[in-house]
Amino acid sequence: MKKTVTLTFSDGSPSIELPIEQGTYGKPVIDIRALGAHGYFTHDPGFTATSSCTSAITYIDGDEGLLYYRGYPIDELAYQSDYMEVSYLLLHGELPTAEQKTAFEQSIRHHTLLHDQMENVFRGFRRSAHPMAVMIGVTGAMSAFYHSGLDNFNPQHREVVAHRLIAKVPTVAAWAYKFNEGQPFVYPQNRLSYAENFMHMMFSSPCEPYEPNPVLARALDRIFILHADHEQNASTSTVRLAGSSGANPYACIASGMASLWGPLHGGANEAVLRMLEEMDHVSKIPEFIRRAKDKSDPFRLMGFGHRIYKNVDPRAAIIRQTCYEVLDELDLRDDPQFKIALELERIALEDEYFIARKLYPNVDFYSGIIFRALGIPTSMFTALFAMARTAGWVAQWHEMLSDPAHKIGRPRQLYTGSARREFVPIEQRKA
Ligand code: ACO
Repeated sequence: MKKTVTLTFSDGSPSIELPIEQGTYGKPVIDIRALGAHGYFTHDPGFTATSSCTSAITYIDGDEGLLYYRGYPIDELAYQSDYMEVSYLLLHGELPTAEQKTAFEQSIRHHTLLHDQMENVFRGFRRSAHPMAVMIGVTGAMSAFYHSGLDNFNPQHREVVAHRLIAKVPTVAAWAYKFNEGQPFVYPQNRLSYAENFMHMMFSSPCEPYEPNPVLARALDRIFILHADHEQNASTSTVRLAGSSGANPYACIASGMASLWGPLHGGANEAVLRMLEEMDHVSKIPEFIRRAKDKSDPFRLMGFGHRIYKNVDPRAAIIRQTCYEVLDELDLRDDPQFKIALELERIALEDEYFIARKLYPNVDFYSGIIFRALGIPTSMFTALFAMARTAGWVAQWHEMLSDPAHKIGRPRQLYTGSARREFVPIEQRKA
């Protein structure tokens, strides 16, 4: 028998019975859709207890510290798969066969070039523009360049859009960096893997040959896997909400990037590095810890805490290990900022304030250190996150539009403004 919950009212109004749904895993969900017909809405700012959709892509158990993509644990994917395969998995629901993987990789490789005229879009920005501002603008501008295959309700069209976005966003990110640096744009190289190609577009120049280091390319690829999807977070929900109106997909992904840019979301790894730079020396750590605990100070320890993971972030252990691999490869174990980071982690993990609130280092705590070691400037950190998350965004967008029951997203509100009042002509208004 299906479980239900009965809502009773203290004023004697008739009670309401609501069904309880149970997914494959996770907390049971009370289906409140019938409430509107009874004259009630629910109120949940920040969506702390509200499921906004059904999804078969990613599962997170924040209490147990679990993250699965399509049922596969993140550590198995991080150590045994690669970003192209994971992107295929997110989009299609199954791991590809060898032939399917080859065909997918070929399709992605053949979509990496940007329309030649898009160079002019980059050149319209100031040289000093933040790469995320450029990425949001240029990705949105793709809607003005790629007009074919835009029937959102045609699955083949959606697939081409997904491939284009996964392929072109790295080119956009690398070119945003090159534009900042005043260096010529570097065209993608089809012989290279996804991560190698990105390194090539970032670091090569027409003056000298560049060969991506395979250990570093593998580390980057692993970071991309860890960031590929994370169920209904702020940026993914933004993509879904924008896409729910049938909006142009390139514009929807640009809106996801805008949401990701915030320091409480994708901007956190950039904020971690800035914080470590500000700390400057291990002796300053206690002062920063004191500030993080002081409720009258808005400062928070960047890279600590997570809305969902109230246990260890399963990605943090993998990325910590990757961080060591990168620092060993580059002979940077004695890097002063890495030493500050490790000491900060040690002190925070032993501090009662952080223990009581279950504030553990999150994935951003280490990704910033790795990116810095790879020579990626701080301002590009969120851009790399956006690149990796593009696979998740397009998979979630595709899933939403594939659902015949999908509706435009339209949250309600609890209105607390003025009650009805008469318009006062300007000459009669008092200060
Ligand atoms: N430093 C100090 N105190 C913190 C921190 C922190 N980083 N994070 C949370 N707290 C405290 C809060 O002050 C609050 O304390 P209180 O109960 O005494 O009032 C308690 O821990 C709970 O915090 P909330 O803000 O309610 O937790 P929420 O789930 O809303 O926030 C968030 C999660 C935004 C990630 C928060 O932990 C934070 O700001 N962290 C720093 C930024 C960061 O690293 N973001 C990356 C997130 S991961 C990602 O987007 C990929």
